Amino acid sequence: MAVLDLRELPDFTADPYPYYAKLRAEGPVHAVRTEEMERIWLVVGYAEGRAALADQRLGKDWRTTGRREASEAVLSANMLELDAPHHTRLRRLVSREFTARRIEALRPRVTEITGDLLDAMGSRGSADLVDALAFPLPMTVICELLGVPDIDRDAFRTLSSGIVTPTPEQRDADPAGAMGAYLVELIETKRRSPGDDLLSGLIRTGEEDGDSLSSAELVGMAFLLLVAGHETTVNLIANGVRALLDHPDQLALLRADPGLLDNAVEEMLRYDGPVETTTMRFTREPVTIGDTVIPRDEPVLVALASTDRDPGRFPDPDTFDIRREPQGHLGFGHGAHYCLGAPLARMEARIAIGALLERCPDLARDPSGGELDWLPGLLMRGARGLPVRW
Ligand code: HEM
Repeated sequence: MAVLDLRELPDFTADPYPYYAKLRAEGPVHAVRTEEMERIWLVVGYAEGRAALADQRLGKDWRTTGRREASEAVLSANMLELDAPHHTRLRRLVSREFTARRIEALRPRVTEITGDLLDAMGSRGSADLVDALAFPLPMTVICELLGVPDIDRDAFRTLSSGIVTPTPEQRDADPAGAMGAYLVELIETKRRSPGDDLLSGLIRTGEEDGDSLSSAELVGMAFLLLVAGHETTVNLIANGVRALLDHPDQLALLRADPGLLDNAVEEMLRYDGPVETTTMRFTREPVTIGDTVIPRDEPVLVALASTDRDPGRFPDPDTFDIRREPQGHLGFGHGAHYCLGAPLARMEARIAIGALLERCPDLARDPSGGELDWLPGLLMRGARGLPVRW
């Protein structure tokens, strides 16, 4: 099969959706070349993508492939990069701490932080909504949940974006190595002064029932929770607000009936969700998807931005419609690695967007803020900023 070079498609990063539509019309899986890899198999059809995410023949453990860069190894003992039984064990240990009760207990605090951030925006003005709300809210919440309120957020934000959405210069600077060193120190500090928080709970876990997280696993877990806990939610809030501002009819509907908010957030996840493609999987044996046989040991990505616009699953998929039934979207993934933080992300987005619309009845995009700076790479869908006025 011919390899399509995604880097050669004009404006793919700003608007990949027409390209995904064309690929979907041609077949459910395609070989593509990206900045990072010579050849990756991209699954673009909904049924095939959903099936791939639950397919045991597609593994996540990079160590079995020899592709992992040595510098990143310190962060790799995390469950999103492991398969059963290691994945099952880590997910069980964190699920005991990451309970529905603990998340629900955060609701008043999420509301309070949102209120403080909106207070700081004032009653009239203009700002970058990512800097003012979409970034600081999830970052503050995940840091308080884990028990690292004093983290240097700017330093952490730079390291994190250097790993998740790197520019070529950032990739050369080894952000994963620096992040690993940073987290090792963080865990040591936490060990010396534990509290009531999730990270202390994870450190303590071995003392109670014999199964404990090793130091490497703690670092991997802290990395995964801190990074997954903010990079994604930032873009759910920003992409969601952008979709509303670009579709005044939908914005008016939501303002008229705030009861639509929960459904609107699901539609935001479907229509322009923050995770464009899943993390990488590898074929453990030859796997046939559609008419294509993917050989063994090949990397596979599921393009959620494409599966969730598959007209075979969602009628009129390019229309942003907050009253449709978007349930069944793959925005949080599917199968064993289904997003652990989905309830927290939903809560934060609903509170943030609901409160923002209430406080800012004239909210609009600010054209003087300039062009949007789209996040590079395939993993995340979003822009670095969203200039607004109100
Ligand atoms: C809108 C926000 C979010 C979106 C769209 C999202 C999306 C996803 C997706 C698509 C996956 C699966 C990736 C794959 O299979 O390759 C995933 C996994 C994961 N997410 Fe989220 N996520 C969000 C927020 C969060 C938050 C707030 C947290 C934690 C506080 C979190 C923690 C995780 C973890 C730990 C995993 C790995 C689960 C496993 O390997 O079993 N996510 N997320």
